[in-house]
Amino acid sequence: MNKMPKRMIETSFTAEDEKIETTLRPQFLKDYIGQEKLKSNLSVYIKAALQRGEPLDHALFFGPPGLGKTTLAGIIANEMGVGIKITSGPAIEKPGELAAILNNLQPGDVLFIDEIHRLPRTVEEVLYPAMEDFQIDIIIGKNGESTKSVRLELPHFTLIGATTRSGLLSAPLRDRFGLNEHLEYYSHDELKQIILNSARKLSVEITDDGAMEMAKRSRGTPRLANRMLKRVRDFAQIKFDGVITQEAAEYALELMKVDRDGLDELDRNYLRMIIKNFAGGPVGIDTIAASLGEDSGTIEDVCEPYLLQNGYINRTPKGRVATDKAYDHIGLI
Ligand SMILES: Nc1ncnc2c1ncn2[C@@H]1O[C@H](COP(=O)(O)OP(=O)(O)O)[C@@H](O)[C@H]1O
Ligand SMILES: [Mg+2]
Repeated sequence: MNKMPKRMIETSFTAEDEKIETTLRPQFLKDYIGQEKLKSNLSVYIKAALQRGEPLDHALFFGPPGLGKTTLAGIIANEMGVGIKITSGPAIEKPGELAAILNNLQPGDVLFIDEIHRLPRTVEEVLYPAMEDFQIDIIIGKNGESTKSVRLELPHFTLIGATTRSGLLSAPLRDRFGLNEHLEYYSHDELKQIILNSARKLSVEITDDGAMEMAKRSRGTPRLANRMLKRVRDFAQIKFDGVITQEAAEYALELMKVDRDGLDELDRNYLRMIIKNFAGGPVGIDTIAASLGEDSGTIEDVCEPYLLQNGYINRTPKGRVATDKAYDHIGLI
């Protein structure tokens, strides 16, 4: 759990950030920017479920951190007008703990399990009948006593799972979700809109150019956009008359070591390492992780998806390869 990336923006994450994140989290679908296809699918499913007076089908969201999975779970509960219970894969250690959580849900409630790929196998097995038939079998009696199994009927609920690694999810679990949606990185325009909305909520003055400058440097990720806004706001206040102009944004982001293409230090170290130490690749993920002193899961979930999508690296059967774009980028620094 403590393997947070050595990404400046992530490691300087504070309780204050968390509070701001909650403040800025959209509450309803209409306020959720981007992910248009996912949103229009969801609104149909939600309307249909509401009309039938049924809970929404179980939903799985996957994609890199900070793209809005937890936010969506909250929005679904609000749109359905139900309660939400939030937990995570590593937090549930025993089948009995999951049974207790399930048994305490109100009819229609959302149960949100973050990092669902990290649920222990024995716990996961309790989920199958719970998701499918809204019932679980619990074993009573132990240690040589006669054991018997008791069937427990559960309230009908909606399970929402989030994961950064859909590849690690077992097939039986994945198959039990009616909705299976991938979240995409956000466009510059979408991030700009998110930044403008957040600035309004935080009562920060910002120009269009300032918002766009920040959008370009947010790695396609709303969480980073919001955290940057919070920091850039401080620079603007002290050095730029309180207004986030393009100049103020550039100045602050330079100090935060986020470059013009939104790459941060970990991204640049990654590219520089492949190019300088491994002649541009191919090089395997474990070697890369070891050379950077990083956890390979972090590299794979957080760093690589953005570099891949933006054409800085390619994945080949023999390993990762730096592209011409990566050479250009590193050459400039
Ligand atoms: N589509 C969106 N529109 C507006 N803000 C968003 C959107 N997605 C995410 N955010 C913002 O980014 C932050 C991180 O989102 P979160 O749902 O916690 O990401 P994830 O669970 O995927 O890691 C939230 O606090 C929210 O303010
Ligand atoms: Mg989350």
